[in-house]
Amino acid sequence: MGLPKSDKNQNSIKNVAIIMDGNGRWAKSNKLKITQGHEKGVGVVKDIVEECVTQNINTLTIYAFSSENWSRPKNEIDGIKALIVKAISDQVPELIDQRVKLNFFGNIEDFGSKIIDKINKAQNDTSLSNPSLELNVALGYGGRNDIVNTTKLLAKKVHNKEINIKDINEDIFSQLSLVPVDNIDLVIRTGGDKRLSNFLLFQIAYAEIMFIEKLWPDFTKEDFISCLESFKNVERRFGKRI
Ligand code: IPE
Ligand code: IPE
Ligand code: MG
Repeated sequence: MGLPKSDKNQNSIKNVAIIMDGNGRWAKSNKLKITQGHEKGVGVVKDIVEECVTQNINTLTIYAFSSENWSRPKNEIDGIKALIVKAISDQVPELIDQRVKLNFFGNIEDFGSKIIDKINKAQNDTSLSNPSLELNVALGYGGRNDIVNTTKLLAKKVHNKEINIKDINEDIFSQLSLVPVDNIDLVIRTGGDKRLSNFLLFQIAYAEIMFIEKLWPDFTKEDFISCLESFKNVERRFGKRI
C-alpha cells in the first residue's frame, strides 16, 4: 500500500471524504429548528452518493457525528439519533438498488442498542463483495482517539507476542485503525471554515483539501462535480520533482 502513486495525466479519483458542515447555520438563516437543518443535510448525502456511483468513485467517507459533537445540547443529539434511524430506514432500499455497501465506523457503542442494531442490520443488508461504492459513515469518530486506540492495539499485539516491533508499519497501522479506507484522495469541507475538526488525520496525509463556502444543505450535485473537476487538474507530486 503506502502512499498513492501520482497519475501522469488527469488524476483518477478513488476515495473522497466530506466534512458536511453548516446544517445549524442553514437552519438558523431559514428560521428553522436545528434538526430540520440536519434533516435537509441528509437529503444532500443522497444526491452526492448518486453522483459518486455515476463517477465510479470507490469510497465516500462522510463525517456524520464527531466525538466532540457529544458536547452539543441533548435535544440536538436526540434529534440526530432519531434522524440516523430514519435515514437508514429511508435510504437502505435505494442503496441496495444502487449496489452501495454501507459501513459505519467510530465509537458506535456510545449510541445505544437501538442504533447499534439498526446499523448492524443496514450493514448486513448492503453487504456485497463487489459494490459500486462503499459509503463509510463516521459516527462518534475522532481522529486523535483513533490513532491512540490503534497504538494501544499494536502495543497489545507486541505484548502478546503476536507481532514484532520491527514489523510495525503503515499498512498494519491502517488495518487496525477504525477507518475503512487507507488513502483519501480528496477532502471537501463545506460551511466555510478551514479546519479538519479531528477527521481522519492518518488517512488524509496526502489528500487534496477543498474548503467550500456553501453550507452543507445548500451543496448540490453540481458543486460536487465541480470539486471533482478541479481535483482532476491538480498536479499531485507526492514530493517528487515532476
Ligand atoms: C454539521 O453541521 C453536522 C454535525 C456536526 C452533526 P453543524 O450542525 O455543525 O452546522 P453549523 O456549523 O452549526 O452551521
Ligand atoms: C465537524 O463539524 C463535524 C461534522 C461535520 C460531523 P463541527 O461543526 O462539529 O466542527 P467545528 O466545531 O466547527 O470544529
Ligand atoms: Mg459545524
